[in-house]
Amino acid sequence: MKHIGLDFGTANTSVSVLDGEELAVLPLERQSVSLPSTLFFDFEDGSTQIGQAAFDRYYFGDQGRFLRSFKSALGTRTIDHTIRIKHDTYQIRDIIRHYIGEVLSRAQAQLGTTIDSLVVGRPVNFIDDNPLADQQAEDTLRQIVSDLGVSNIEFQLEPIAAALNYGVTIVGEEVVLVIDIGAGTSDFSVVKFQAKGSADSVKSEVIANCGIHIGGNDFDKVIALERVMPLFGYRQRFKRRPELEAPRSYFLNASSWHQIDLLYDRKVLATLAELEPQMEQPDTFARFSQLIRSRQPHKVLTSVEQAKRKLGADDATQVEMPFVEDSVSLPLSVSQLNTHINELCIQIIATANQAIENAGLKKPDIDTVYLTGGSMGIRHLSQMVASEFEHSKIVEGDRSTAVARGLALDAKVKFG
Ligand SMILES: Nc1ncnc2c1ncn2[C@@H]1O[C@H](COP(=O)(O)OP(=O)(O)OP(=O)(O)O)[C@@H](O)[C@H]1O
Ligand SMILES: [Mg+2]
Repeated sequence: MKHIGLDFGTANTSVSVLDGEELAVLPLERQSVSLPSTLFFDFEDGSTQIGQAAFDRYYFGDQGRFLRSFKSALGTRTIDHTIRIKHDTYQIRDIIRHYIGEVLSRAQAQLGTTIDSLVVGRPVNFIDDNPLADQQAEDTLRQIVSDLGVSNIEFQLEPIAAALNYGVTIVGEEVVLVIDIGAGTSDFSVVKFQAKGSADSVKSEVIANCGIHIGGNDFDKVIALERVMPLFGYRQRFKRRPELEAPRSYFLNASSWHQIDLLYDRKVLATLAELEPQMEQPDTFARFSQLIRSRQPHKVLTSVEQAKRKLGADDATQVEMPFVEDSVSLPLSVSQLNTHINELCIQIIATANQAIENAGLKKPDIDTVYLTGGSMGIRHLSQMVASEFEHSKIVEGDRSTAVARGLALDAKVKFG
């Protein structure tokens, strides 16, 4: 029997399979085991694409609608947000169904079987401090996967899955703090391992979990707002009432991967046109309207994300925006990045400490800190983790597949 796990991520999705003793992550797009969580409706030929292909179609010129980070809509009102595409309308829940449906059919084609039983990963909190909305998020995801024909669906917390993946390498007793910093959320588990050996013989006890809705998308958002949006009128004041700033909501939406679509409403462009002559620098507002009209805000965030990732290795880079008029390029140094994201990083570290406190433990009780998630590529964050947990062994897991692999291991435990 094959045991399958689905890690539906805010930015990337993976499917893993445990077949006997063999654990693998399936290549979902060419050789890549990590498929971007994106979808593109092509207005020209009516097709839809997912993954990198969706991104390429959007970025390199086809007319259409691009969506990313739809996982963030789970448990929020945005899940019912309606998108009009030509003569049809879709809700974000339809987008998620379409995306996961395509992922599962690619997986099934490779496995040569239908997927009847599946362990699906979920963050500790889809929504912070709102158990009802959090449960709704899980229920919606369960319904979507069930509509796609999967009969047995179990959920597992993403950091526990990562812990299970690490667990197969453990030989002695170990108390592990898992830190998984993704695009949408940061998730933590404290797990005590008692045994050694193969997937079958690992004994683990989950002592505590903690999560916060902060991730790489929030880093992108703060960089976009602080460095890029002023170019488009953010923080502009009214000529006649200099004590008043332009409404922030448009710029917040333009800086949030999962909210960009809210800008593609005629009322938004009409309001921006009304505001334009009233602002100190009307041309910046005109540039913002043009950005929205040409469906380019995702390109801005892509440029921001690329710059952020470059600063994982370099000390300075540029946010390159060749698609805006006069091809703008804004410098971004690692120290500027650190200033922008510092508060968010402090909250992430505080949540890690909260997980330890919830476990009734103290920092010295943590033998190992196991790291995963793409946002661990942020140097400021990895330095903060290293100094916060200087007495623990730090183990770098595979940033993109640790959760998925653990979900397949868990499928064996759950479905036998
Ligand atoms: N080298 C890097 N430096 C900084 N950030 C990076 C780097 N590489 C990837 N990222 C960020 O990591 C995030 C994606 O990580 P990951 O694939 O773990 O998220 P996810 O699993 O899809 O999200 P989640 O688990 O929150 O739903 C993105 O925000 C991306 O910008
Ligand atoms: Mg993840």
